[in-house]
Amino acid sequence: MSIQVANLSLDPPVMLAPMAGITDLPFRRLVARFGAGLVVSEMVASGEMVTARPSVQARARVDLGLGSAGLTSVQLAGREPGPMAEAARLVAGLGAQIIDINMGCPAKKVTGGLSGSALMRVPDHALRLIEAVVGAVSVPVTLKMRLGWDSDCLNAADLARRAAAAGVRMVVVHGRTRMQFYKGRADWAAIAAVRGAVTIPVVANGDIASVAAARQALAQSGAAGVMVGRGAQGAPWRLAEIAHALHGTPAPAVPYGAARADLVAEHYEAMLGFYGRDLGLRIARKHLGWYADVAGAEPGLRPALMVAPDPAAALALIRSGFAATDAQSEALAEARAEADAERAAA
Ligand SMILES: Cc1cc2nc3c(=O)[nH]c(=O)nc-3n(C[C@H](O)[C@H](O)[C@H](O)COP(=O)(O)O)c2cc1C
Repeated sequence: MSIQVANLSLDPPVMLAPMAGITDLPFRRLVARFGAGLVVSEMVASGEMVTARPSVQARARVDLGLGSAGLTSVQLAGREPGPMAEAARLVAGLGAQIIDINMGCPAKKVTGGLSGSALMRVPDHALRLIEAVVGAVSVPVTLKMRLGWDSDCLNAADLARRAAAAGVRMVVVHGRTRMQFYKGRADWAAIAAVRGAVTIPVVANGDIASVAAARQALAQSGAAGVMVGRGAQGAPWRLAEIAHALHGTPAPAVPYGAARADLVAEHYEAMLGFYGRDLGLRIARKHLGWYADVAGAEPGLRPALMVAPDPAAALALIRSGFAATDAQSEALAEARAEADAERAAA
């Protein structure tokens, strides 16, 4: 089972969501290694990209690492059709296999600039932007959006229909409105309206962090695939687990004990190499915290990892702290996290 996007086969139809500050090259590489039909870069600000000096643009080639982390889509954020088209041309030239347009980001920093989900409030303008990007590149263009701006403006289906007519090849819908930010629960059933409006593939997104959730999201939305964001944090094998259960791909070898410590250490060192020591130390902390949460590690491990003063100290903690991880403590931690999420949503 796969999703066909122009000449590309997204197989399995389980994808890693774009997450600014998280889905960098080291993380995408890990997720792709376990197995994913597609991974999406952090959003790239189109205006900054086109005005950057050539040396900075060349750096983007390294940062994006296109071609080295499985089938990769580069997500662009922006407001103006011209710079968006120019940025699309640039990243396609760097090797992006798919260009995704961000119409879902709720952050004030982004919607304040009238990009991200704010584009859903101005559909005619959004269409001009989509047409400019589609016209600028020969690689497929996809669109990621929310259900709408708020509960009075649920226009995802209409926008998807117009986007498909303009040449967009796949739509991803996060089952929340912009005004919900990340509160409550994603409404997978509401995505069915988008599914009914277009013949291009529709992908369901939002709160899909387990096999059971993926099954339910697909059943309720009728979507062709799922996109997983936060569920992959601290668990880069999560997409492969879902793909195995739903689509019969090989089961990922989820590492426990010393193997989990090895994986976390490998990711940690990859981040230090990618960002350099000082920035790497800081950026790695959130990933280490998620690894500790997911593993159901000893309660002292997380805070100790957060204050580890240097890489050697962090690596020693990783070795000792994750060596005792097992499937049972992980299952307990997962049940606890699910109960917490349900309480928070209630
Ligand atoms: C920290 C963070 C950063 C994100 N950055 C982006 C982004 O750059 N572009 C985007 O379209 N969505 C972004 N998102 C939204 C996710 O792609 C996804 O739609 C959302 O988290 C819901 O899916 P999930 O419940 O599986 O995480 C971000 C979400 C988080 C939590």
